Parts: sequence; structure tokens; C-alpha cells
Amino acid sequence: MIDLVTRDMRLPIHPRSWQPIALERPISVDEIPTPALVVDVAAMERNLDRMTAFLAAKGKVARPHSKTHKCPIIARRQLEGGAIGICCAKVSEAEAMVEAGVGPVLVTSPVVTFDKTARVARIAAGADPKPRGRPTNEPPFTVVLDSRLGAEVLARSAESEGVRISVLIDLDVGTGRTGVAPGQPALELARRITELGSLELRGLQAYAGHLMHVDDFEDRRARSRQALGRAVETRRLLAEHGILTEVLTGAGTGTFDIDCDLEEMTDLQVGSYLFMDAEYRCIGASSEGTEPKTLARAFEPALFVLATAISQPRSGTITIDAGAKAMPYEKTRPEVCDVEGVRYHWAGDEHGILELQKPSRPIELGDRLRLIPAHCDPTVNLYDFYWPLVGGEVRELWPISARGCSQ
Ligand SMILES: Cc1ncc(COP(=O)(O)O)c(C=O)c1O
Repeated sequence: MIDLVTRDMRLPIHPRSWQPIALERPISVDEIPTPALVVDVAAMERNLDRMTAFLAAKGKVARPHSKTHKCPIIARRQLEGGAIGICCAKVSEAEAMVEAGVGPVLVTSPVVTFDKTARVARIAAGADPKPRGRPTNEPPFTVVLDSRLGAEVLARSAESEGVRISVLIDLDVGTGRTGVAPGQPALELARRITELGSLELRGLQAYAGHLMHVDDFEDRRARSRQALGRAVETRRLLAEHGILTEVLTGAGTGTFDIDCDLEEMTDLQVGSYLFMDAEYRCIGASSEGTEPKTLARAFEPALFVLATAISQPRSGTITIDAGAKAMPYEKTRPEVCDVEGVRYHWAGDEHGILELQKPSRPIELGDRLRLIPAHCDPTVNLYDFYWPLVGGEVRELWPISARGCSQ
């Protein structure tokens, strides 16, 4: 049972399920009711292993972002695969993970109000001191801050809960979304945090979200080096003033093979690599290696929306049962798998229209098709569970326990 905390009351919330739900018998893809979110488990595990091995060769570790999958079962696999911990975008996402025994957890969005800091303090007080995964000196729970107000409110909540909370300073390295400016403003915040006895400043977070989908690899590399260079300078500035930091965390799937070369970077917050999506598959990859020259060569698609062709009001198109409620609108289109020469168009909330440009095989009413979503994170957030496909069969469902946890 977790509680929602407001200034003067606690609202009881029933426990979420996170354990696999066994089906009465194995079912094939053709029996899955559509639209459905299907995970190719072998492809997902290959992606996981590739990232772990790549980072290990560079002397780095992953702190994967669970905002991609929102599923404790998958987070546990990432931890068992060598991750140093798990990132959560929001406090409620962290509650769902900690409740399922997942940790160490880092909340990557700053907190500033009492309702959130009180929840943070309660998670910190209850988090398993020996979480699963490989043994590290990571505290079981950490949260980022980017303001003096946030630090002071969090310190008060920590005191009333009787805990010391580990924090990182979130730096704005160019995204303009969250974070304190690098340099002097970050130093001032660091000084304030170190005055607050109930907070322990462990390091910095520098996530350059605005660069993740820069198409050209060399351009992305140059800009990411410049952005993260500001974080490195800030770390040095803090050290010059006697504030030593252990952690410099950041990066994402778009810069994993760039930011890993930065000596000061301790861990990478990669998320989408696990599933890959249409937006990531088409960005340029490093010029080393073989074709294709896009990121599609680094990781395989492992997440699919399974849809059914349900109507054909005119020739040249066929309608499927997956619209914006199955895959949210994005600038990039979902990719239709299994049949080439077909283009997906959103056709409202419930439907998608496939434009049959030059289909490599006919699509008939009742046919099932797999689509690679444009953007994996908001797609996952629309479903209650995954249908994990192993050897062509689904034997259990995996709850997406942190679905809707955007608080
Ligand atoms: C703070 C932070 N870190 C890491 C990530 C993971 O990025 P990606 O899914 O591009 O790997 C995100 C994604 O939005 C993020 O907001």
C-alpha cells in the first residue's frame, strides 16, 4: 500500500501489481486481441546485452531510464544485467519501482513542492537498503534538485521523516527544460545544499535532451561534447570550492556512443535503446562500421503494436484498428513491419489507414500486422501490460505498473 501525501491528508492507493500474470495456456500471436503491445523478448535482451557490453568496454555503466518501459520486470532484468541503478522520471514512477523491490532509484525531474518532497522522503525512508543488482556504493534512492526552494522544502521533509536524502544537481546543458545553469548558479545551489544537514550532495545530472535526435552523427557528437563540457567545468568549479562530487550522470540513446568517451561521466541514463522506435531508427550513426548508417544498426526493434486490418472502404488503402489511442501522434510515422511499400497514416483515435503504395504482399481483412511505434515511451504509457513473445508464444503478461505515473 502506498499513500498519496497532501499537506494534511494521506489518500490510500491500492497496491499495483507488478508480477507476471500467467496465462492458462500459451497463445500464438494470431490469438492476441488487438491492438496490443508486444515485446520480442529475445530482441530486447540482445539490445540490453549490446548496451551493457558496449559500455563495459568503455569502462562505463548504464543507469537505464525506466520511463521507457515503466515495468518492474524489465527494470529487474536491467539490474541483473549489470545496471548501476534505474532512473525514474517522476516521483510516482519511483514509487511503483520501489514498491516492486527495484533499486537503486534516481528520480530525474526536480521536486519543489511539499506534496512531492514528502513522498520523496517516504520513499527514501522505505527504500530497500540492499537493492537487487550488482553490489555498488549507490544509495538506494536519489533525487535531482535544481532550485534553492526545492532544496529547502526537501530538507524539511527529510527532517520530518528522519532520513538523509541523497541528491544530484540537475544542470541545464542547453535543453532549457529543467536544471540550474552550469557554473556560478550551480555552485551557489551546491553551497546551499551542503548547508542542509538532511541532504547529501552526491553529484550532477546533465541530460542534453535537445541533442538526442540530431540527425547527423558528427554534429550530434560536437554539440554533445560542448554541452557536457559545461557539466565537467561545473564539477571542477565545485571541486575548487571544496565540494567534491562522485556522480556525473546523463546521456541517452542518441548519445550513448558519444558521452561514454567523456572521462568524467560515471553512468549513462539510456532508455529507448531497449525497444528502439521509428524516431531513433532513422538518425545517423557513427561513420565507423557497416551499413545501414543509421542507429537502426545498433539496436533491434523489440517493441511492436500488433494491429488487425478491419476494413477496406476503398482500394489503395486498408484500415487497421490502431489509431492515436494505440500509438500517440508524432512527427515521425510508425513503421509497418512484415510488409514493405506500405505507409501508416493516423486516422483518428481508434484507426490507422495503411496506404498501399507498393505492398510486397497483399494485405487481407483480418490480417495482423506489427508496427514499430514512432516514440516508444508515450506508446507504452497507453497500455496496461506487455504481451512478451518468446519462441513465437506468449505465456504470461507483464504489467506496465508505472503506466500513468506522471506525477
Ligand atoms: C533525464 C533523462 N535521461 C535519460 C533519458 C533517456 O533517453 P532515451 O530514451 O533517449 O535513451 C530521458 C528521456 O527523455 C531523460 O529525460
